[in-house]
Amino acid sequence: MATVVSMGSLSSLLLPSRLSHNNSQDRFLLLKTTASRFIPQTIKNAFAATRIRASSTLLVETKPDTILDEKKLDSCKNTLACPICYTPLIYTADSSFPADSAARPNLRCRTCRKAYSGNDTHLDLTITSGSKGYGEAMPASTELFRFPFVSFLYERGWRQSFSIWGGFPGPEKEFELIKDYLNPVLGGTIVDASCGSGMFSRLFAKSGLFSLVVALDFSEAMLRQCSEFINQEENFPKEKIILVRADISRLPFASGTVDAVHAGAALHCWPSPSVAVAEISRVLRPGGMFVATTYILDGLFSYIPLVRPLRQNVAQVSGSHVFLSNKELEDLCTACGLVDAKVTRNRMFVMICATKPK
Ligand SMILES: C[S@@+](CC[C@H](N)C(=O)[O-])C[C@H]1O[C@@H](n2cnc3c(N)ncnc32)[C@H](O)[C@@H]1O
Repeated sequence: MATVVSMGSLSSLLLPSRLSHNNSQDRFLLLKTTASRFIPQTIKNAFAATRIRASSTLLVETKPDTILDEKKLDSCKNTLACPICYTPLIYTADSSFPADSAARPNLRCRTCRKAYSGNDTHLDLTITSGSKGYGEAMPASTELFRFPFVSFLYERGWRQSFSIWGGFPGPEKEFELIKDYLNPVLGGTIVDASCGSGMFSRLFAKSGLFSLVVALDFSEAMLRQCSEFINQEENFPKEKIILVRADISRLPFASGTVDAVHAGAALHCWPSPSVAVAEISRVLRPGGMFVATTYILDGLFSYIPLVRPLRQNVAQVSGSHVFLSNKELEDLCTACGLVDAKVTRNRMFVMICATKPK
């Protein structure tokens, strides 16, 4: 991506905090910009680290962008929120950051002033984003997906195996079912919660059925893989998608601002499905819709003695919650303030859709 800026207009608008010569023949200069309010729209997405050709006109080269496009951030400006205070985030630039730093603050909370940064693939909107001295482990069902070999294998056999053992119809058929359920909210913003390597996020973006797709996952490895798949596809509508790292239990969106949330094959991986669905309910606007798939162990499984207490032990060890009936899943949605739950089943596979009351 390249943006041409005239030297005259640039010097009156920008105060480069660091301008240094690159030795290459092309005479590239490294520019780090300052306060973004002085920067015109067209070059805002180049403000963190840009290479500028020294001549009467400046050629500002930016990296192929999936995350920090100003237009994209603009389109979800009242939606993206601080995961600590839930206040909408504002777009800023911080001149104290080195231009070549991987972490560059671009969004800031109006209330707690915390800055949130992005790297080349995603914005990090977890509570611990930016912290260096603190780390905590999540349950195994969350941590498993952070391993790069899992994100590599996920769309190379792992996800396909769900159809064999669980009756998942597969991405195309699942996408058709999702589209039918989400018909009333098409055209709005969709969050693909726990998107993994972005199998559905990519389908949502390419379908053109939504104004913006937020591909959200806790796993950096999954988001990197999602970004790689996006970059491999020709003519992918990158302007339609933003990749965000976040915890499902603390969604970085303002309350009542999201049109639809999809969560494919993820409910059973969440540390607390009720906290997660309550969060989803909080961020959905009135009339907004939640559609999710998971698996249910009923039928023959219900004859296994002590299946309920056993499930508690499985949850304690793996962090994975096993659903034992449709009713249980519907109850979960109702308990979290969602109504009108509808269910589609195929063997162990279940898709549930519920709505935030108007
Ligand atoms: C089985 S994959 C589902 C991927 C994709 N949605 C699909 O339909 O195939 C489950 C995903 O849930 C994510 N996940 C687990 N715990 C999470 C959490 N606490 N917050 C956000 N995502 C989480 C994992 O990183 C993983 O990508």
